[in-house]
Amino acid sequence: MKVAVCLIGFSAICLALVQATPVKADNEKAIFCYFESWTVYRPGNGKFDVENIDPNLCTHVAFTFLGLNSDGTLNILDPWESNPDGLDGFERLVGLKKQNSNLKVLASLGGWNEGSLKYSQVVADPAKRANLVASAIAFINKYGFDGLDFDWEYPSRRDSENPDDKENFVTMLQELREAFDQYGLLLSAAVNSAKVNVDISYNVPLLSKYLDHVNVMTYDFHGDFDKYIGHHTLLYSAPIDAQYNNSEWNIDDGIKYWLASGMDPAKMNFGIATYARTFTMADSTNPELYAAITGGGVPGPYTRSAGVLGYNEICELYPNRTDIFDDVQMVPHVVIGNQWIGYDNEQSIGIKVDYALNKSLGGFMVWSFDTDDFTGLCGEGTYPLTRAIHTKLAQRGFTLKKN
Ligand SMILES: *[C@@H]1O[C@H](CO)[C@@H](O)[C@H](O)[C@H]1NC(C)=O
Ligand SMILES: *[C@@H]1O[C@H](CO)[C@@H](O)[C@H](O)[C@H]1NC(C)=O
Ligand SMILES: *[C@@H]1O[C@H](CO)[C@@H](O)[C@H](O)[C@H]1NC(C)=O
Repeated sequence: MKVAVCLIGFSAICLALVQATPVKADNEKAIFCYFESWTVYRPGNGKFDVENIDPNLCTHVAFTFLGLNSDGTLNILDPWESNPDGLDGFERLVGLKKQNSNLKVLASLGGWNEGSLKYSQVVADPAKRANLVASAIAFINKYGFDGLDFDWEYPSRRDSENPDDKENFVTMLQELREAFDQYGLLLSAAVNSAKVNVDISYNVPLLSKYLDHVNVMTYDFHGDFDKYIGHHTLLYSAPIDAQYNNSEWNIDDGIKYWLASGMDPAKMNFGIATYARTFTMADSTNPELYAAITGGGVPGPYTRSAGVLGYNEICELYPNRTDIFDDVQMVPHVVIGNQWIGYDNEQSIGIKVDYALNKSLGGFMVWSFDTDDFTGLCGEGTYPLTRAIHTKLAQRGFTLKKN
């Protein structure tokens, strides 16, 4: 690989460095996008359905979420949304492959609302694990999905503090892998990104071995679950983070730890969040990190949840906002009245894409389609945040993975 380094201030001086490593066929990157099926019920401009998905923006699309029954079989959580006698969501989602023959469509099992305990109990029991494998294959083949995405939040944590979860999870993935290989199916997982959580939940080398993709949830570091202001997608820690013992509570320390623990970077997808975590400030004259809050920010018209705003809601509600860019954490926020809104814009996403490319990661994960400006009503075109990934990839000479 040839890298041209130009010294700023000496614009005529450019040095060409030749790295010793041979050029690999790693110029193709994945963009793994999540579809939240409950967004079909949002009002007005926020309503999002399968037809709003641009199937050429992503290499993978994952339906969220399937649930788990206590015997290990899969549970269709919203049969009305998913089945042919209702909105037929599975069929229409898998149908996106007709518009992009390279697209892979997966079904994602788990998510926050499922809790952890059921998963702990199923993966600990050989008969229930066998049920999960058989149920997953039957489900995938019935609807024509390309694979399963495992989103257990999280092994050995929350309502399951069973220390065996970590190894039982790997056994589960190994059994899925062996069965999936007979059908050529994909197996991925969404994982926690914080450094302190990795060893609790994950056997990293074996996750790296059994999974095709590991989607790192590089967001939600701060939120109204804290008692203070903080940015939820900070790339690096600010000096003040050290005073609060949070010097490693950031994306960079998490990614570095995953890689140092044995994760194959080529299988790792860096998470891009299309939503903000928001706060109501206790004192609107003190909009600083770690300043007191009275709670989450005011709910938006579509996501309708205190402490969260979609990018589409931010750009619609606050078209004239002024981003304040933190040059250390490398993320923007806006302050409007007593509201503090920490999110990602095209600039911070460009920096994150650079970061992931510098680390030779396999690609990106987007959570989620429905809170990007998918209709383009804010005047930056459709899907400005997801397209910011494409723009940076193209600038650096990368293309999308052809599955
Ligand atoms: C940081 O950790 C030190 C040592 O454990 C502790 O004494 C201190 O109270 C902590 N500071 C904060 C702000 O939590
Ligand atoms: C944003 O600025 C434009 C141009 O100055 C103005 O017409 C519009 O009313 C403003 N919108 C809001 C929501 O403040
Ligand atoms: C990526 O690498 C380039 C070249 O070394 C460097 O200029 C840039 O700052 C890096 N970006 C990030 C976010 O690491």
